[in-house]
Amino acid sequence: MAEFDPKVLAERPISPPAEFSRQARVKSLDEYRRLYQRAVDDPESYWAEQVRLLDWAVPPTRVLEWNPPFARWFYDGKLNVAHNCLDRHLADKGEKVALLWEGEDGSQRRFTYRELHEQVCRFANVLKSLGIGRGDPVALYMPLIPELPVAMLACARIGAVHSVVFGGFSAPALADRIADAGARLLVTADGGYRRGKLIALKEAADAALAHCPTVEKCVVVRRTGKPIPWQPDRDLWWHELVPRAAPHCPAEPMEAEQPLFILYTSGTTGKPKGVLHTSGGYLLQCTWSTRLVFDLREDDVYWCAADIGWVTGHSYVVYGPLSNAATVVLYEGAPDYPQRDRTWEIVERYKVTIYYGSATGIRSFMAWGDEWVSRHNLSSLRLLGTVGEPINPEAWKWYHRVVGKGRCPVVDTWWQTETGSILISPLPGATPAKPGSATLPLPGVVADVVTLEGKPTRPGETGYLIIRRPWPSMLRTIFGDDERYRRDYWGRIPGAYFTGDAAQRDDDGYFWVLGRVDDVIKVAGHRLSTMEIESALVSHPAVAESAVVARPDEIKGEAIVAFVTLRAGVSPDSDLRNRLSDHVAAMIGAIARPAEIRFAQGLPKTRSGKIMRRLLRELAQKGTVSGDTTTLEDLSVIERLAQQKGEEE
Ligand code: WTA
Repeated sequence: MAEFDPKVLAERPISPPAEFSRQARVKSLDEYRRLYQRAVDDPESYWAEQVRLLDWAVPPTRVLEWNPPFARWFYDGKLNVAHNCLDRHLADKGEKVALLWEGEDGSQRRFTYRELHEQVCRFANVLKSLGIGRGDPVALYMPLIPELPVAMLACARIGAVHSVVFGGFSAPALADRIADAGARLLVTADGGYRRGKLIALKEAADAALAHCPTVEKCVVVRRTGKPIPWQPDRDLWWHELVPRAAPHCPAEPMEAEQPLFILYTSGTTGKPKGVLHTSGGYLLQCTWSTRLVFDLREDDVYWCAADIGWVTGHSYVVYGPLSNAATVVLYEGAPDYPQRDRTWEIVERYKVTIYYGSATGIRSFMAWGDEWVSRHNLSSLRLLGTVGEPINPEAWKWYHRVVGKGRCPVVDTWWQTETGSILISPLPGATPAKPGSATLPLPGVVADVVTLEGKPTRPGETGYLIIRRPWPSMLRTIFGDDERYRRDYWGRIPGAYFTGDAAQRDDDGYFWVLGRVDDVIKVAGHRLSTMEIESALVSHPAVAESAVVARPDEIKGEAIVAFVTLRAGVSPDSDLRNRLSDHVAAMIGAIARPAEIRFAQGLPKTRSGKIMRRLLRELAQKGTVSGDTTTLEDLSVIERLAQQKGEEE
């Protein structure tokens, strides 16, 4: 975890452009502060007022039932999430473009709200015909194609619970997630494209399903048209089912607390946790934050470049923007394919007005050079966003200057899979920005930085980022594991939600998020667990023990360094290193491939036998040991040194 250079904290804030503020929903810092104060003084009535942003079949009269740590929001209300994202727009915006899709191969598809609604109704009917109903988990393992949001909304329409698994995960990782959710149906595709290469999703799905007895059927979207293995008793083509299904399907009212989705994310153990989100509170806060943070207007062309397999894609590609009747751009592939200006080409082609991307993406663009950006007309852009990891001030300023030409506010949005929606972020027309800071909490969000005992830290002092009060889009539990939910989030700091992040506040109360304090790491914005990678490594027959730590990486934020001890008789060489790396990729996915594997004779441990990760982190940050890949590092030296100092972790 990095410490901030005090010079950064002392820099002058950048005010929102006057022209932007004039037309914004919240126009000044004073106005934000008044809003914030009102929400803090009476949070329940603040949230009660916001429910009007949604269309309720039965409007809620209750706001919150809080039996710590279990919350129920708007719990006597009823609504349908798909109705809110589609049907309610049809009367006056049926012909408005909902989705502008571009494949990596250049193919294009567009859907108006009416067309998207029809697709969703048809697929909802398909789901019903396959026996899927309210509360049934459905796994989605798909490329970034329109059928993915269609499938999500179809689940929402009938009250099925989707579990989207990022297409970059491997078969075993998919199988774990399907098994944990007990999914009855899998929706996948015959493949996807990434950097021109075919991603063999169906093959991975087949390998996973061999271990998933709960899955009865597998619906396959034809994306590539390439031949794939087929199991006639189980597999069904999307394009054969959907056109035959009826184009109408009632959007039945659901309880506000009806589960909407499970999204697996990495925690501090090897087992991924299924973060459970429900309907009313989640959709409300997504809808509300999309309006506030992106200051969405009727004519915006909005592009969030996240993969729908992560929470950012759930909340800010699908639910938040569609609930606001926005025009959403969806791009299937890599930002550097066929060339490094693909992102800017798309911005220019569709006249994108709002671009929201990862800090890693921004650092890559910066490293690729200004000329890729400046060869395109980006005058349509009016707002830029970043998410997923701390952004270094240098990258922030580059984004602001080179992409936004100094005209576009930059919103650095802090949130998590668990929070469901953005909690800390500038309001673009109101909050002066400080590059590198997510600035201030949104109205209704009570955030703080505290010590382990829950005492607020002084300005400039590092502590733990917490949220003091429940909020509507908070996770409700870890699927199937209430105890883990209680322990991980509400059992660490007295009376507060523990985010797992370290942070500081400055003299103006701005939040500076430093990164994780647990065993979660962020590699190119992808959330991974060191324990999960360790489990993958020790499942290889050559490995006796392993410890995985992160080291800072200029582009990806963090990179994975694995220390490995080998079983007796196995000798280390670079070929083994490659095989271990391939093994991790096969067990989890290519995103978890270690940047470095270091063979050691033994791992440094405390007297009680705990691996001294802090020492390994220090060692990893110093970089690679020189050249020779065949020798074992003798880490007992640092172990002895540390024990002399009496250092325990
Ligand atoms: C990190 C992603 C600094 C943080 C939406 C958090 C950030 C974790 C920011 C959640 C930001 C997210 N500045 N750090 N603006 N946004 N993070 O669940 O460590 O994939 O705890 O959700 O990302 O990652 P997740």
